[in-house]
Amino acid sequence: MSVEAREPVRARHAMVVTVEQHATDVGAAVLQNGGNAVDAAVAVAFALAVTHPSAGNLGGGGFMLLRMADGRTTFIDFRERAPGAASHDMYLDADRNATKDSQIGYRASGIPGTVAGMAYAHAKFGKKPWNELVQPAVDLAKNGFPVSWGLANMFTLDNIAEKLAEFPESKRIFLKGGAMLEAGDVLTQPELAATLERIRDRGADDFYHGQTAHLLAADMQEHGGLITEQDLADYKVIERRPLTGFYHGHTVVTAPPPSSGGIGILEMMGILDGTDYTRTGAGSARELHYLAEAMRRFFADRSQYMGDPEFNKVPVTELLDPHYLETLRASIQPEKATPSSEIRPGKIELVEGSHTTHYSIVDAAGNAAAVTYTLNDSFGSGVTPAKLGFLMNDEMDDFAPKPGEPNGFGLVQGEANSIAPHKTPLSSMSPTMLVRDGKLEAVLGTPGGPTIINSVLQVALNIIDFGMNAQEAVDQPRIHEQWMPDRLQAEMSFSPDTIRLLESYGYEVQLKRRIGEMAVVLVRNGWLEGAPDGRTEGTAKGF
Ligand code: GLY
Repeated sequence: MSVEAREPVRARHAMVVTVEQHATDVGAAVLQNGGNAVDAAVAVAFALAVTHPSAGNLGGGGFMLLRMADGRTTFIDFRERAPGAASHDMYLDADRNATKDSQIGYRASGIPGTVAGMAYAHAKFGKKPWNELVQPAVDLAKNGFPVSWGLANMFTLDNIAEKLAEFPESKRIFLKGGAMLEAGDVLTQPELAATLERIRDRGADDFYHGQTAHLLAADMQEHGGLITEQDLADYKVIERRPLTGFYHGHTVVTAPPPSSGGIGILEMMGILDGTDYTRTGAGSARELHYLAEAMRRFFADRSQYMGDPEFNKVPVTELLDPHYLETLRASIQPEKATPSSEIRPGKIELVEGSHTTHYSIVDAAGNAAAVTYTLNDSFGSGVTPAKLGFLMNDEMDDFAPKPGEPNGFGLVQGEANSIAPHKTPLSSMSPTMLVRDGKLEAVLGTPGGPTIINSVLQVALNIIDFGMNAQEAVDQPRIHEQWMPDRLQAEMSFSPDTIRLLESYGYEVQLKRRIGEMAVVLVRNGWLEGAPDGRTEGTAKGF
């Protein structure tokens, strides 16, 4: 295993871990100035909307998992909802083939929830004045910040430049009019600064009822988008009870539907419990085989049963029933991959955008925030509405545009996740915490579409079952298996011998440069360990 040994960032009192240095600094400064974890989470969300435009956002949505120092937990769902004019077949052409409109352009966006989510969390749990939390983002947008190598590189990946170039405002702001931003260039965003100033001064009201709502709806109308002023005015944050389970003496507090992630983490832990999957050690082919078989079985269930709980019953209890988990466990054969076609009939392929972001925060009082939020694909729909300066999401693509059949991007899901007005698309985002003996133990999460669920699982297992510290748990190479396509993804840093053994068990292995971008805080022996993901430019700061 070619893993570099690195220590986590250690601190006694408080810790912030995000994917981007400026945002980490903003969060740490809020904590140092007496703000709590929720205040820092709000300030980081706005900062990332400036400095990490591929996923940080005002025009998207996400989930915030909170655990307060007194043990209360809650889950704030500020995910995008389908506009009122959305309909079941809205992305099908005359021949009933799925188009790319769910991924690119004005029709791809759900109603954004991020600003409402931050306002909700702040009103209920925050301590510092709202304007103080938005101001750092205003400063970053107005004064600019030097573009990092990682951000400059993002514009060169996956046809991002082509997508952004289709939309004049996006091309002007994020591509320097077509010249491309380079590392070290200073990116200033005056339109975004003006939008943030209005949010700073008028709160979420500006975004959902005020000038921003007006400008956004007008731009949508002019370009054939669906989101109206009424949709924005009707947007509601939903506070939900987190999903909680128990594994090897640890309480796992995680994301409930409309995320599939929490069910997945608990279902897979339930399958692994009672196996001796740890016997051959972390990263051994046999351990990876058991993980992959658990993943395969969960993802088969995901495809069939999961969607917005307001629209369909998601059988959480049944999926986590010990007898059911026992039958899944019993169907795993040692050292032999089960063909996915034998797990459940039907060819169902799940592919989601992999560009989201996660940050983890613990404050000096012991309050903790785990936030995963997103535009869905990297740089969302590619659309920056006129005069607003922020990118819109393409979260409508997390629905099943044509249930039962692959769309242009290979995405097939069931009727449970079909499109309907005001419905929330199924998510994989999985902000999660571990609690031991009534005390916070870990805060964790990552971007990565469906790989999120498996990455969070593996890092949690590295902590719980292999006793790793936060950085070791994050640095350990990861795999991803999602039932269909019947293929195991494995990071390149696994040894070739391990890969060959997995192939001898029957896996088709696809090597990936990286899977996930974890941000973890671990509380251990009176220290906070902050572990950013060395796979990208994550940073941790504590005091
Ligand atoms: N858009 C990625 C997710 O919600 O899973």
